[in-house]
Amino acid sequence: MSDESRDLIEEFDARYRIGEEPVMLRIERAVTGSDYGATSYTTRGQADRLADLLDLAPGKRLLDFGSGAGWPGIHLARSTGCDVVLTDLPLEGLRTANRRMRDDGVRGTVIAATAASLPLQDQRFDAATSSDVLC
Ligand SMILES: C[S@@+](CC[C@H](N)C(=O)[O-])C[C@H]1O[C@@H](n2cnc3c(N)ncnc32)[C@H](O)[C@@H]1O
Repeated sequence: MSDESRDLIEEFDARYRIGEEPVMLRIERAVTGSDYGATSYTTRGQADRLADLLDLAPGKRLLDFGSGAGWPGIHLARSTGCDVVLTDLPLEGLRTANRRMRDDGVRGTVIAATAASLPLQDQRFDAATSSDVLC
């Protein structure tokens, strides 16, 4: 892994840690309408539109890559009943996502891996989302 990638992971780890602070969650709720400790600009309204466009429903399998602390993948799984696989590299975000997934009663898997090479035998998904990753 390059020094640049390592620096980026550290930077996001710090951002996911701060994102759990009550004041940050209050700001997030006011700005985007959600409280997942997100570092992207996807609003709740936009995420709900994604659920419709992707036709998410129980029995479908969603990949949310670059999922950070779980936004928007966990929300999409919770609101539609689909299964979700979350993948990212900063462990701080993945820990938060794992906790939130349990708290929200969502069926899914959290994986510490680059989306470029997923350590999964079954790599079939019905839909994929990413929020501010391909930039
Ligand atoms: C701007 S953050 C958005 C995180 C989350 N989707 C959100 O809305 O809060 C972008 C995330 O993409 C992740 N990322 C970048 N390249 C990745 C890759 N190849 N595989 C998985 N995650 C990646 C970063 O580690 C970072 O957590």
